[in-house]
Amino acid sequence: MQTFHPPANLPTQYVKMGELRFRLFIPDQTIQDRIKVLSDQIKKDYAGKNPLIICVLKGAILFLSDLMKASEIEGQIDFVRLTSYEGTVSTGNVTEGMSAASNVKDRDVLIVEDIVDTGNTLNYYIKKLKEQEPKSIKLAALLLKPEALKFPIEVDYLGFKIPNFFVVGYGLDYNEEGRGFRDIYQLDLPDVGLK
Ligand code: IMP
Repeated sequence: MQTFHPPANLPTQYVKMGELRFRLFIPDQTIQDRIKVLSDQIKKDYAGKNPLIICVLKGAILFLSDLMKASEIEGQIDFVRLTSYEGTVSTGNVTEGMSAASNVKDRDVLIVEDIVDTGNTLNYYIKKLKEQEPKSIKLAALLLKPEALKFPIEVDYLGFKIPNFFVVGYGLDYNEEGRGFRDIYQLDLPDVGLK
């Protein structure tokens, strides 16, 4: 898969958060078109399997919702809360704020994650899930930063490969702001007097 680059005719649009500004990067319609492709594949692969779909909070919530609607997949949903980022920097430590309650043994597990950066979070979590002997584990991630990857994470259903910069929107936050944007924005410049 090629790294995603915004089309030349993408409108120049900024949002400000704190002292930072972010520039429009992946527009809503492009996200939805890609989710449709992933959803068709997921629907096919999990037909008749009743997967356990584990959504990684908080960032993957919009991705999960759109995947579920587009695929109309039959499955059980659960949530885990994993944190490793402060501001725009990975701390390297994974904190599990809330665990998935479901029994994973012998289940076909599909993890739904917003973004794979160093891969530390999923490396931690997939190892932990494997100890509970699921039948299979697959991963759906909307975004992957291959240049940042430090752990051997395989994404089975990937939305976009992106360069190694910080992004917000569509569930992704900067210090808990920006999750509600339909589009994804990339970190641009410090705010130097934008109106
Ligand atoms: P990793 O453990 O380094 O792969 O980081 C994964 C987690 O860090 C994701 O689930 C996000 O919560 C967060 N994260 C990584 N990159 C970004 C980003 O560019 N914007 C917002 N959150 C990010």
